[in-house]
Amino acid sequence: MGEPASSTKPKSIKQAFIYAFGAALFVIMGVFASAIYLAEAKVRDRDLAERSPAVAELFAVKLGKESNLMRAVGRAMMGNASIEQAFRQRDRQALEHQGRELFDTLRADHRITHLYFNLLDRTNLYRFHSPARFGDQIDRVTMLQAHSQKQSVSGLELGPLGTLTLRTVMPWQRGSQFLGYIEIGEEVEHLINEVSDILAVELVVLVNKRYVEREQWQRGQSLMSRQGDWARFSSHVAQAQTMPDLPEALDEVALARLLAGEAVKISDKGRSLHIALVPLNDAGEHHIGELMLIRDISDLEATFNGYMAIVSLLCLGVAGCVFGVFYVALKRVDDDYRRQRELEHRLLRINSEHQRILQLEKLSALGTMVGGIAHQLNNPLVGVVNMAQLAEREVEDPQRLRELLGEIQRAGKDCRSFVRRMLEFSKASSFERKPTNIGNLIEETVLMFRQTESRHLPVEVDLPETPPELFIDPILIRHALFNLLQNAAQATEGHAPIAIRLAPNSDQETGQDGWTLTVTDHGKGIPADALDRIFVPFFTTRSDGTGLGLPVVQQVVLLHDGQVSARNHPDGGAEFTIWLPQ
Ligand SMILES: Nc1ncnc2c1ncn2[C@@H]1O[C@H](COP(=O)(O)OP(=O)(O)OP(=O)(O)O)[C@@H](O)[C@H]1O
Ligand SMILES: [Mg+2]
Repeated sequence: MGEPASSTKPKSIKQAFIYAFGAALFVIMGVFASAIYLAEAKVRDRDLAERSPAVAELFAVKLGKESNLMRAVGRAMMGNASIEQAFRQRDRQALEHQGRELFDTLRADHRITHLYFNLLDRTNLYRFHSPARFGDQIDRVTMLQAHSQKQSVSGLELGPLGTLTLRTVMPWQRGSQFLGYIEIGEEVEHLINEVSDILAVELVVLVNKRYVEREQWQRGQSLMSRQGDWARFSSHVAQAQTMPDLPEALDEVALARLLAGEAVKISDKGRSLHIALVPLNDAGEHHIGELMLIRDISDLEATFNGYMAIVSLLCLGVAGCVFGVFYVALKRVDDDYRRQRELEHRLLRINSEHQRILQLEKLSALGTMVGGIAHQLNNPLVGVVNMAQLAEREVEDPQRLRELLGEIQRAGKDCRSFVRRMLEFSKASSFERKPTNIGNLIEETVLMFRQTESRHLPVEVDLPETPPELFIDPILIRHALFNLLQNAAQATEGHAPIAIRLAPNSDQETGQDGWTLTVTDHGKGIPADALDRIFVPFFTTRSDGTGLGLPVVQQVVLLHDGQVSARNHPDGGAEFTIWLPQ
């Protein structure tokens, strides 16, 4: 018998699962991080999307309020009789005298930068902000609209120097008579600063280069002591802005995306800036440029990143714990699995050793058997030889010779009887089963036993009402039962009865249904030191026994997948039990 074949190295369960689990955790974390990032982008975009119309609205409200102020100022002037008289008389000196103080106050307190008195044909009579220029015809949109509609008009106008001015032109009417126009204007840069402060965004006024000329624009810049960069963008120029410098990353490409209606995110000096455009129209509804909103979203991003870091750490922690628990559990399963395999291997080894021992036992049993046979045959043969020698010497005495020949014959018969028993023992290996009524079989065997047993010992048979049919070899079972009866009779000294009992009984270990056949006697019982050897071939305590009776019983029962056992009764006598499956 060789070693059990070593199987392929067992795969680690832990390894098989742990990588897949790790990958799954990784994917979940990735999805989670992406979701947080998308949420941030959404909040950011919504913030800017809400702020853009707010800027446009607040800017319009501011323009409306300023226009109202201008109209109030204009009406106050038109109601002043001295100013009216000076205007009617085209008296520029008197106008200057009457209006200068008011204009200076307006300029100082209300940022009003322009004040015109124009005649009915739009010719300028007097400019308070630039008295030296007069007599030219005003043809700006606000003037033309007020002239044609004969009512007050307010709106943004892009000046020749590229400045954006809010202008209000009011027709001067006395009863049904039109006297001329008063025009008031102011630069809007301070309005942009106010909107920027209120809504916490930086604003840049971008004017389309189509509406300004480079030299004029540069003159305007030097008049306002600014240093704008005309060449920064090809299509637009920054006219006013609430931040000292435009972000460097705000280039031609970014502007093109903004003009296409996108919101753009850029980084500038460690800050994250989110940018969008609101269209800027003048009083004549020309799209003259864009109001650029620049929102610093660094804080928002930092908050989000903080949350993301905390949530990621938490997730990592939880994932780590889950991973750890899973790892430990898998390790345990792995260890159990390995232990089980080791046990299997050990069992296989033990099994193979057991087989070897069995083999050895068989060999030793064979030795015992051969020894037994030799012993059984040797005694009568020695007798035959001795008596034949004696007969040779006593050939003269016919009486003695007859006696000796009788002895030789007896020894020969013993040999023949032994050989016959040997043959019976070997016959047990021819095995033919068929459905057999066990009750009938028992009755027949007892009958046969009574005929051969010389002392006529009583045999009590206890059978169930309807004895079963069992799938057995009737010859072998009859032979086994006969041997048990014979042993019982040989052990019984007086005239005590032998009892046979058949009863249903399931196997204690497997629970399989079956029947027990018990043979009980009231003899001397089995010697204690012989109990574990009585089924060994040739073991006998009787001088004329062969020791083959019980081995035959055992072999027959094993052939029927049954069991046989022996025990002594406490009050004397032996009991042999055969269990046969249903
Ligand atoms: N009913 C019994 N009561 C007491 N001892 C028994 C009984 N049956 C068997 N034995 C013991 O078991 C031994 C072996 O029995 P077994 O039937 O195998 O051989 P044997 O009876 O000695 O010889 P053989 O059956 O070949 O004539 C007996 O010698 C005896 O010691
Ligand atoms: Mg016997």
